[in-house]
Amino acid sequence: MSKPVIRFCLNGNWIEESSVSSDMTVLRYLRTQQVLPGTKEGCGSGDCGACSVLLGERSVNEVGNSQWQYKAINGCITFIAQLDGKSLITVDALATKGSAKEKTPEQLHPAQQAMVDYHGSQCGFCTPGIVMSLAALHENQRINKNSEPAEHHQIIDALSGNLCRCTGYHPIIEAAENMGNYENNSADVGKVGIWQPEENIVEEASAGLLHNASSNDIQSQSWSPKTEDELKSLLAQYPEARIVAGATDIALEVTQMNRRISQLVAINDIASLKTIEIEDDSILIGAGVTYSQMEATLNEHFPEFGQLLHRFASRQVRNNGTMGGNVANASPIGDTPPVLLALGACIELASSEGNRWMPLNEFFLDYKKTEQKPGEYLRMIRIPRLQANQHLKVYKISKRLEDDISAVLAALKFTLADFVEGKEGEQIVTAVSSGFGGMAGIPKAATHLEQALLNKTVSMDAFEQAALVLDQDFAPMTDVRATSAYRLQVAQNLIQKCAFELSNPNSVTRIESLESSELSLAQVTTEVVNHA
Ligand code: FES
Ligand code: FES
Repeated sequence: MSKPVIRFCLNGNWIEESSVSSDMTVLRYLRTQQVLPGTKEGCGSGDCGACSVLLGERSVNEVGNSQWQYKAINGCITFIAQLDGKSLITVDALATKGSAKEKTPEQLHPAQQAMVDYHGSQCGFCTPGIVMSLAALHENQRINKNSEPAEHHQIIDALSGNLCRCTGYHPIIEAAENMGNYENNSADVGKVGIWQPEENIVEEASAGLLHNASSNDIQSQSWSPKTEDELKSLLAQYPEARIVAGATDIALEVTQMNRRISQLVAINDIASLKTIEIEDDSILIGAGVTYSQMEATLNEHFPEFGQLLHRFASRQVRNNGTMGGNVANASPIGDTPPVLLALGACIELASSEGNRWMPLNEFFLDYKKTEQKPGEYLRMIRIPRLQANQHLKVYKISKRLEDDISAVLAALKFTLADFVEGKEGEQIVTAVSSGFGGMAGIPKAATHLEQALLNKTVSMDAFEQAALVLDQDFAPMTDVRATSAYRLQVAQNLIQKCAFELSNPNSVTRIESLESSELSLAQVTTEVVNHA
């Protein structure tokens, strides 16, 4: 029997690995096993973007052509097992090598040359990561948008996961705005190269075999199943194996806590877990769908949920992270479970013994403990669609506006009816459901609050009174992010904010709305105070 391997394309060359540890990160692998030191380690936790690399998957683009599509990811929080069948490009290979024989000079990628010409680098530590984020933007514009220049908000979004401590972002953004003007050495559509690896080996790598790598330093195994049947039989055999889709959280156990993961199953290459289905009454999101892939759906059906994605993760994290992982991980400070609780979501768990559905509010049992049994995996999330008289409100309170862990995450779904008896224009709450993060050891609904809000008119006074019962729902902890008293107070204040926003739907009350509204922060504040 041939030795099982993980096979992927690194900078245009297919390689096989059969002896890397199951918990080997891409960053560590590049720097220690491949001696490719261009990719840097800053934080090791998905925050700074110094480790950004490009991950390619073969797919059909917006104009119907099938080819490799690349996205920037954080190498420090991605495991090698997740690369099976994929293409990885590092900064070391971006420039086209020169040839002395043919007298051709080295040619930098447009993202690199623009960074040089627009002085986008000083100490240079962040620069490889920034170049990779810009290269992903440049290539996606080239492949999917006929090389249209990226818009300003796309540039900001592409750079949202890259921290630079010394250059300042102005020259970096200028480089991004101008990189489309450079001759494109990567324009190799249809040609074999780092961007379009050879085909025959791709097919072999995607043949659906289980891939298993073992190493000597720990008893270590990792798999990248291609179907759910393979996944089920694997989990039946190894029920304690850790399951990762994006790995953006579990990888922190390795990089921040020095823990080892001896058995790892990467489910990011199973097509049936990567689907989004829009039904008449609900939306089904597969556990392997990344945040980037679900953004358009959330923006359309649950705009406040869609906006939340920009608050809690960089583009690199959204390119790999999944809602399925956020739910299964059961962190009390995960941002999507409270929203899903408020929306009344259900989840499907699957194993070799069969599938079962359950309401999400029955899934979380205790801190990081869930209903998921060994051998089971989270398969699908079903979210009821909003009716015309239903409103979702989502609030994230964190020290930084973006890319930060919540002190409090509050989500509420209100069903409203017009209050007719002599009170024109007033509305009454006929149903409400909620979800809170950061307030307890699990993501949790505030049932006392829900009862207190029921049948109340939508007014700040009524909601302020109702919010007083929140201390019957929660006794939050004090930690580095907030004190217990702060958490409780801010949660109560957010209930009043719900009333304000429900009765003044056209008012600008969110800082993330500034770009479109062109209001200043001071104007937003004044508007809120004037209405209060
Ligand atoms: Fe900072 Fe990876 S090293 S995001
Ligand atoms: Fe020094 Fe960006 S150039 S951190």
